[in-house]
Amino acid sequence: MEADFWNERYGREPGHFYGTDPNAFLASVAAQIPPGPVLCLAEGEGRNAVHLAMLGHAATAVDQSAVGLAKARDLATARGVALTTVVADLAVYPFDPGAWSGIVSIFAHLPQPLRRTMHAAVVRGLAPGGVFILEAYTPDQLAFGTGGPKDPALLMRLEALRVELAGLELLVAQEIERDVREGTGHTGRAAVVQILARKR
Ligand SMILES: C[S@@+](CC[C@H](N)C(=O)[O-])C[C@H]1O[C@@H](n2cnc3c(N)ncnc32)[C@H](O)[C@@H]1O
Repeated sequence: MEADFWNERYGREPGHFYGTDPNAFLASVAAQIPPGPVLCLAEGEGRNAVHLAMLGHAATAVDQSAVGLAKARDLATARGVALTTVVADLAVYPFDPGAWSGIVSIFAHLPQPLRRTMHAAVVRGLAPGGVFILEAYTPDQLAFGTGGPKDPALLMRLEALRVELAGLELLVAQEIERDVREGTGHTGRAAVVQILARKR
């Protein structure tokens, strides 16, 4: 989906569309990220990056939506933490090799060719010992209708992610159903894939 779509969505919402609390899976595994800088991909209004900044990481949030990232900066200010924001299309965002202690991808539903390219860049972008954290909807989510894209091509399976993330050690790699109640955008029982992976 285009930047205009997300700018309109975030602009219309008086609060934060996905809430101001971090994604529950991220919050449950964030302590696995070693000290150092973290990069949050497709980070929208900043709830995850701000949480990681509050844990002491130098956090960078990348998203194509300038409106979303303006709200991310407001949230960081409200919480009294620093946050770097980068308005960019992930198709052209340059990942510095070996730069990141943590990279986070929460509900980043991209076209498959871009997703594959980005995951290769994630593997290169992590420092040794660095951690990648992902949660996203699987195609089973289409039956729940509680959030996420309607286009099956934007949903993802663990099987595909295992291939795309070759080179990382998978510490958590599962497809599960769980209640996702994160803002007004994610509202109930959901089918998700979760990954916690480490670069050796
Ligand atoms: C479902 S929202 C998730 C936001 C955030 N990760 C969260 O969990 O609150 C998806 C986000 O992906 C971003 N996005 C989609 N395609 C993108 C692209 N090609 N480049 C950068 N951001 C993109 C959108 O702008 C939107 O903010």
